[in-house]
Formats: sequence, C-alpha cells, structure tokens
Amino acid sequence: MERTVRFLLNGEVSQATLPSGLAVLDLLRRERRLPGTREGCREGDCGACLVLLGEPQGAEVRYRPVNSCLLPLGELEGRHLVTIEGLNPPSAPGPAPALNPIQESFVLEGATQCGFCTPGFIVALTGYFLGNASPDPESAEDAVAGNLCRCTGYASIRRAIARLLEQHRALPAGPALERCVGWGIVQPWMREAPARLKAMGPAAPAPASAAGAAGPGATAVPVLVAGGTDLFVQRPESLEDAPLVFLSEQDLGRTWVRDGRRYLGAMLPMEDLCGVPPFADYLSCVASGPVRHRATVGGNLVNASPIGDFTIMLLALGAVLGIRGPAAAGIAALRELPLRDFYRGYKKLDLAEGEVVEWVAFAEPGDAGFHFEKVGRRRHLDIASVNAAVFLRLDGGRIQEARLAAGGVAPMPLLLARASEALRGCQIDPQALPQTLRRALGLAQEESVPISDVRGSASYKRRLLKHLLVAAFLRLQPREIPEETALALLDGPTAGGPA
Ligand SMILES: Cc1cc2nc3c(=O)[nH]c(=O)nc-3n(C[C@H](O)[C@H](O)[C@H](O)COP(=O)(O)OP(=O)(O)OC[C@H]3O[C@@H](n4cnc5c(N)ncnc54)[C@H](O)[C@@H]3O)c2cc1C
Ligand code: FES
Ligand code: FES
Repeated sequence: MERTVRFLLNGEVSQATLPSGLAVLDLLRRERRLPGTREGCREGDCGACLVLLGEPQGAEVRYRPVNSCLLPLGELEGRHLVTIEGLNPPSAPGPAPALNPIQESFVLEGATQCGFCTPGFIVALTGYFLGNASPDPESAEDAVAGNLCRCTGYASIRRAIARLLEQHRALPAGPALERCVGWGIVQPWMREAPARLKAMGPAAPAPASAAGAAGPGATAVPVLVAGGTDLFVQRPESLEDAPLVFLSEQDLGRTWVRDGRRYLGAMLPMEDLCGVPPFADYLSCVASGPVRHRATVGGNLVNASPIGDFTIMLLALGAVLGIRGPAAAGIAALRELPLRDFYRGYKKLDLAEGEVVEWVAFAEPGDAGFHFEKVGRRRHLDIASVNAAVFLRLDGGRIQEARLAAGGVAPMPLLLARASEALRGCQIDPQALPQTLRRALGLAQEESVPISDVRGSASYKRRLLKHLLVAAFLRLQPREIPEETALALLDGPTAGGPA
C-alpha cells in the first residue's frame, strides 16, 4: 500500500509516495537512478546493497549500515539515508573523480578489482568509523563480515583496513562525526542532519494497528514488520501491496531491569544486545552487523525458526513473553506466556491474529552459569545446523536450576525438559556430575527428533547435539567435567545413528 514518506537522502530533503513495502534498494536504483548501491543476492547475504540509515537519537543522529534489499521504504520516514554517492567527495574539474580516504585506501591496496562489491565495503567501513570511538583490527574486520567479494581473496581488503586504522590513529581527538568529517570519509553536510530532520516535523500519521493499516472494509491481512530481515527474504513481492504495520513506530526498542528481571523490548535490534549479558559474548556468531542492526529480538522469536540463535538462548534462560492483544473496548490486554509454551509445532505459535509480542523477560542470570554453542557451515552469516544453550544455577554444592535448549533437532526451538530435570539436584562433584550428565545426554537424544536436510543428516545432528552440550559443560564445570571426562562422555552410541 502506498504511503508518503519524507526523509533526508544524502544532502537533500526527499519525499516519496510509493508502496511502503518497496525495498529501498529498488527506490535507489529504479526511482532515484542512484546505481552505486548494488543489487546482489537480495537476501542480506552479500552486502553489495549496504546503505547508512541515520536515526535521530537525542541531539544526534546514529548511523547504522543496513542491507537496503531488506529495508522497506516505510522505514525511511524521518530518517537519513546515506548512499555511496553521498560518500563521494565533490570532484574537481578533470578526468579523475576525487576519492575519499576509504576509497583511496582500497585503490592503493588493490582491494577493488571488478568493483561490484566495493561500494558495500566502503559503506560498511564508514558506518564502522562513525560508530566507533576506538577502532581496532578485529572489530574493523568484523564490520565487513557481511560483505562478500568474489575477486580479491580478501587479503588486499585486510591491508586497506590496516592502512585506514593507521590513518585513524593520527586523527585529532573529538566526537566521532567530527573526526570522520575532518578525515574526509563523510561530507560536512552530515553535521546538519540532526537539525534538518528535526525541521521536517512530526511524521505523517501512520496506522497504529493492524486493522488501521488494512483500511475500512479491507480483506487483506495486515503484516507486522519488525526488522523485516525475515519477511523481505521470504516474500518481498507480496509485501509491496500488503498493508504493513511498522512496529518501529511503537516504543518497543528498549531494554530495562525491574525487580531482578531483565526486559528486552521486542523491537530491540540484535546488535544492541552487545551490552546485555549473557548475549554479548555470542553476538559475533549471529548473522552479520548489518543484519543485526535491523533484525530484532522479537522477530527472532516470532519468526519461529527451529534454529534461531537468540530463541535458543532465551529458552535456556527461562524467558517469559509479554504479549499485547488487539484493543477491545479501548483496552488492550497484556498476557504473560513462558517462551517454552509459545511454540506449538513447525512455525505454529500461541499468538492470535493482531497480537503483538511487546517484550521478553528473564531473571537476571547474575553468577549463574550460561553457555551457548553453535555449529554451522560458516562461522559468519549462516544459521546453525545445530545450536544449544545451557543454563545452570548452583546452590549449596548442587544444581538448583538447569535448563538445556537446542535448535535444529526438532520442528521448533526445543527446551530439553527431561534432560534439564534430570540435572536438577545433582551434586557438583567429579563422580556425580559426569554420571548424571551421561543420563541427561541420553534423555536429550530421546527428546530430539532431527530431520536430514541440507544442513546435515539426522544422525549427524544428533551427534552434534551431544557434542555441543558436552562442550558447554566442559566450559561451565571444568573441574567436574575435564577434557578426558568430556571425551569419555562423547564415547558410546548416539541414539538413531552410528557411534
Ligand atoms: C543474511 C541473514 C543471516 C542470518 N543469520 C542468522 C543467524 O546466524 N542466526 C539467527 O538466529 N538468525 C539469523 N538470521 C535470521 C534473523 O535472525 C531473522 O531474520 C530475524 O531474527 C527476524 O527478525 P526481524 O525483526 O527482522 O523480523 P521480521 O522479518 O520483521 O518479522 C518476522 C516475523 O515475525 C513477526 N513479528 C516480528 N516481530 C513481532 C512482534 N513483536 N510481535 C508479533 N509479530 C512479530 C512478523 O510479522 C513476521 O511474521 C539471518 C537472516 C539473514 C537475512
Ligand atoms: S543484495 Fe545482497 S545483501 Fe542486499
Ligand atoms: S572486487 Fe569483484 S567482487 Fe569484490
């Protein structure tokens, strides 16, 4: 459905009246004739289509690199869209276009060959330097983990990044934006963005509910859009005409602690979990930075992938959902539901039409043990073949609370209830724990029902499950489960497959 959106496009105020589900990639290439943003996979995998999306935050604008192939036009309202064209410095008269320091570094190090991927890398690195007060080689390389290059073999890209880090070290101290403007990697008009966005005034009123988006008498079912990273991979064409409700227009993107409970607003982008224990340690193995900047915690749960990484972590944490029903007589009721009861089968949920997940909450882990393991075909940018999380709270030398959760071993994310229960009350010593864990591993095998698919055979996944759970205990209880005990636990037959 069409909607008029107003936004900043590079240095200019812009307006578009187009379907709100149109991918920003198509707006740029087809409507605005800005072809520097490249069309590659259209699935968030290659990074060729990266743009910077700037969102007002207080007196500043926060820029995040995001995949424009998965970004719906409706999300541009009141925001700043910066494309590769906006990062080019103004050219002096003459045959050679001027290059900014990132572009120059790529040229000098031979980090661009056919050049198809290059705009995406430049945008990713610009976003990185804009958002990072103290860049370092590891996080700078992580910033381009969502960019694929078919030509260079990446060594030259690494050298270009090293050259940039050296230049960055020599910059005078100051706020990140000022340093980036002074360095020349962004243009001076970026300084004016906060005031120009403010001057645009409040957004055109958007439908606040699913029913409002469809319009009176409409029959099409409105679609709730969170980060759009699943929706726009699964069914991009149908979303152009569908009535969309953008959950970003609701205040659901915060995290807070109340009465010992940590709450994550459903619209919290995955990347913003970087400061929230225990997720920070595992963030880099989930998708890529640009996907994590858009994909939300709520989307990961409602998407109901049997291998959603945060879903598995939250199951092990014993999370509870806050679900808001559609307003009846002006009152919209909130119900709480344990996450383990949310999943009813493959992509089947306890969620009625019009209900919105508002938050997910769990008891602050404090000094409890938590560990997450994931095996996929690639470390970055791939969903798991099998993933598993273990939560252990110890008290008085015994396991007071245990939760084991696993993905990829059933049609839905699975809390291994019987295996978890078997561990409860177990004494923490080098005799009792291995014995009890062996029994729990057997129960975990019985509870799981993996299928053979492109991510591995059923017997391979069963084997993986055992390995991942043992690996978690090796990490959490190394005194009781040292390496040789762990190896012994892995010996012996695995249910449904070869030893
Ligand atoms: C390239 C790529 C790599 C990826 N790698 C990983 C990975 O390594 N690990 C991993 O776990 N996942 C991975 N994913 C999947 C990603 O986690 C999901 O796409 C994401 O979590 C979905 O969140 P979203 O906010 O984008 O949801 P959307 O796509 O906006 O929505 C998904 C579904 O949930 C519904 N919905 C969303 N929020 C709510 C709400 N609050 N209330 C009610 N309904 C709601 C929507 O209507 C829709 O049906 C990857 C995705 C991509 C594109
Ligand atoms: S086109 Fe490949 S990530 Fe968007
Ligand atoms: S330079 Fe050709 S794809 Fe990267």
